[in-house]
Amino acid sequence: KEEVFILAIESSCDDTAAAILKNDKVLSNVVARQSIHEEFGGVVPELASRAHQQNIVPVIDVALKKANVAKEQLSAIAFTQGPGLMGSLLVGTSFAKSLSLALNIPLIAVNHMHAHILAHFIDEEGFDKPVFPFLALTISGGHTQIVKVNDFFDMEIIGETTDDAVGEAFDKTAKILGLPYPGGPLIDKFAKEGNPKKYPFTKPKVDGLDFSFSGLKTQILYFIQKNVAQNPNFVEENKNDICASVQQIIIDILMEKLKLAVAETGITQIAIGGGVSANSGIRETLKNAENKYGWKTFIPKFEYTTDNAAMIGIVGYQKFLHDKFENTKVVSKARIEF
Ligand code: KG4
Ligand code: ZN
Repeated sequence: KEEVFILAIESSCDDTAAAILKNDKVLSNVVARQSIHEEFGGVVPELASRAHQQNIVPVIDVALKKANVAKEQLSAIAFTQGPGLMGSLLVGTSFAKSLSLALNIPLIAVNHMHAHILAHFIDEEGFDKPVFPFLALTISGGHTQIVKVNDFFDMEIIGETTDDAVGEAFDKTAKILGLPYPGGPLIDKFAKEGNPKKYPFTKPKVDGLDFSFSGLKTQILYFIQKNVAQNPNFVEENKNDICASVQQIIIDILMEKLKLAVAETGITQIAIGGGVSANSGIRETLKNAENKYGWKTFIPKFEYTTDNAAMIGIVGYQKFLHDKFENTKVVSKARIEF
């Protein structure tokens, strides 16, 4: 079997990431996180692109060294073309183009959302790969989608959010509670110690397989404001229960739509992906769904949930096998057709 070495670059948002894959195995997976955004309560695009420019060369250097691969051994370079922040994407795209020219090797453009789904095809001990067709629930800071995945390059969105992404629901709730950005992991942490039934929030009514989270955010905001008016220490005293209850309603919303998607498609293999799939409550619920509903669920290895370049690399590998290359006229796309 031919040995294919892919350098993958991901720079769509605030993390600068590089990975080296040998075929479908990850040799190194490096992420430089940008803490600069914490104090602003969200990603500042201008600062993100500057940090990418500083980080990209060292991150790729470390990825090559950790993998013990010389750049002359590389078979191709894969990069995130979109969707994402334009200034951030430009850094990865331009670097990938230049290096592919310098090394005279093929260039591969990857859709970030495809990568969150296809991360399940990375060869990892103890992790099964889904069989086509399967359903993917992609939940991140920018997206909430249910995707019918027919093949590596044949996917259709059958449900998506009509307003906020589920990651925003986590992050905006965290902001209301006075927690720093990104608040998702903190809500997860406090929820572990809390009672998910303490504060029953209500599910929004949305037709079909689509989602809505902006109403939930408002519901939570009013709930907190009302209680803080009566007790200024309400949030401090009930943080765990609030977080557990918020997380529970989000899980309920996701599960309701997944069950509907299974009923409509007859597909019972479910893969989750995206930053929010790091959430321990969601992971546990999906795991339990195997016994409860007879589904087969695929929960990614923790390091492949939030943004990373290994997932870009596995798509790069599949595209390499199918000769799906770009010329150097390829450009970043903040929005990209699925
Ligand atoms: O996929 P990702 O790293 O970046 C985007 O493409 O958006 O997702 C980031 C999102 C953030 O909203 C973050 O709060 C959320 O994933 N997140 C979590 C957890 N870890 C990350 N949300 C809930 N629980 C977590 N453990
Ligand atoms: Zn992402």
